[in-house]
Amino acid sequence: MPSILDILDAAFREAFVAMEFPAQIAGVQESTRGDAPFQCNGALAAAGIAKKRGEKLNPRDIAANVMESMTSHPMIEKMDIGGPGFINIYPSQAAVSKRAAELQDDENLGIVQPKPLSIIVDYGGANVAKPMHVGHLRSAVIGEAIKRLLRVQGHKVLGDVHMGDWGLQMGHLISELEIEQPDLPYFDANKVGAYPTDSPVTMDDLARLYPKASNAAKGDKDRMERSRVATAELQAGRAGYMALLGHFIDVSVAALKIGYGNLGVEFDLWKGEACVDPLIPDMISELKAKGITEEDDGALIIRVEEEGEKKDVPPVMLLASSGAVLYHTTDLATLVDRKAENNPDLIVYVVDQRQALHFEQVFRAAVKADWYAPEQLYHVGFGTMNGKDGKPFKTREGGVLRLEDLLGIMNEAATKRLEESGIGADFDAAERTEIARKVGLAALKFADLQNQRLTNYIFDPERFTAFEGKTGPYLLYAVVRIKSILRKAETQGSKAGDIVVAEPAEEQLVLALDAFGRAVATSAEKYSPHILCDHIYKVAQAFSRFYTECPILVDDTPHDVRASRLALAQLTLRQLEMGLNILGIDAPERM
Ligand code: ARG
Repeated sequence: MPSILDILDAAFREAFVAMEFPAQIAGVQESTRGDAPFQCNGALAAAGIAKKRGEKLNPRDIAANVMESMTSHPMIEKMDIGGPGFINIYPSQAAVSKRAAELQDDENLGIVQPKPLSIIVDYGGANVAKPMHVGHLRSAVIGEAIKRLLRVQGHKVLGDVHMGDWGLQMGHLISELEIEQPDLPYFDANKVGAYPTDSPVTMDDLARLYPKASNAAKGDKDRMERSRVATAELQAGRAGYMALLGHFIDVSVAALKIGYGNLGVEFDLWKGEACVDPLIPDMISELKAKGITEEDDGALIIRVEEEGEKKDVPPVMLLASSGAVLYHTTDLATLVDRKAENNPDLIVYVVDQRQALHFEQVFRAAVKADWYAPEQLYHVGFGTMNGKDGKPFKTREGGVLRLEDLLGIMNEAATKRLEESGIGADFDAAERTEIARKVGLAALKFADLQNQRLTNYIFDPERFTAFEGKTGPYLLYAVVRIKSILRKAETQGSKAGDIVVAEPAEEQLVLALDAFGRAVATSAEKYSPHILCDHIYKVAQAFSRFYTECPILVDDTPHDVRASRLALAQLTLRQLEMGLNILGIDAPERM
């Protein structure tokens, strides 16, 4: 069922069309000021159009005519004209009450379900053996929200972590391990038979071996060559190296599952670059046969620049002159794999905006190869999380901040906040710890998601964990407060009943709740979780005003008024919980 705004919007557009003006000038929107919840500014544009047609019409007169044709609309209480010709629209309380009842009955709380698509969201993107950095954090948090947004719209969505597990970092690991433990069977080129099933390394070993190798290779050509050779031999399928790769991946996946799990991020597919390597030879033959590849200085490329375009889009590199496969190659092979395995309608890549050109190149090649249509591939970029110096966040020592440590910092900040405000002071230690974990995580995720994703933001745990303002903890507090009201009502034996809107704060709350469907739809359409964040924040604020102005459990509140307000509180809770769940944010039961 459409929202009140959607219905008014359609009605006003129709009224303008009846007066021979185009529908698109006549949209109804939420008012930005004044008392009226909605406004329609179409009369101003209409006057401009009339002028071009040679008619002289005053926008206020057009507005008056439109209002005239709308007087009997069942949802409208009154209208008036503001300024040069804005129409202010006040819905009737009966319409608002009826809409509240509809929302109560709708398990999707007003979210409209478009035609379901099959979608893959490629996010996370952690690299095997390299520590996860804050870029991976943003990809995980934004990607998870986008996946859930698409899911609540009824789409069939798979999340794929698309691990970086192919390329030079593997050569670094293999060669470094050989330097440390040359006698391992994986390095014996003459070995026959199976390799051990237990991994020769742990995650800690990997985390140590990789920087050791990469640092050594920086200043030493021979060391670098050794890593290159190992990479090439791995890519050529050397059995011992493939067996090692298998161990590296298993050990990393186990660690990543824990790391992402701590963030509340879950993937359906744990695929990576390495697993599509077997598809590469056939893919290259196909691309050659299609006549879209070229030899260039020993390398194999696909030109993807478009005629007459200003920006410089360099060719896709399929094979380096050494024969090695590159990032472009594995992403193209992944597209081949996804087409064969899932045949998705849409693939969305949630990856740092600094990779925008890479995706532009890959997408163009995939379209040139006739595998996908341009609108099936979409890169959702995002900016960086910066330190106070305005540069991508680093540890005090200047290193890459590990996700674990980041969560540790958030946890500490949340614990401090909770202690300062005395929240949970009389709960036992285990519950306090769990609350701090949830508050810290909510603070971090909401602080990240509430920004327009392409903007950079500054990591500020103090500000993120504040209980006032547009923060995660403020929203958790709103949820917990409603839960506590409902618990109290239950012990008093008060029950929820029909919602009857009478007070302005009640009306404002229902209208705020009624904007959920639109917020979800726009958020999903633009891959912009911040739109949903804004909405949830508005709902929490509307609830807070409502709760101040409309007592619920106070003794002299009449029975049916209390029942209506309790129902409103329940509905608000459902929506806040669903909204936060889409954002991947979990609230405690109490605090
Ligand atoms: N592993 C890459 C990185 O750390 C991100 C992968 C993104 N996904 C993709 N299909 N390329 O930069």
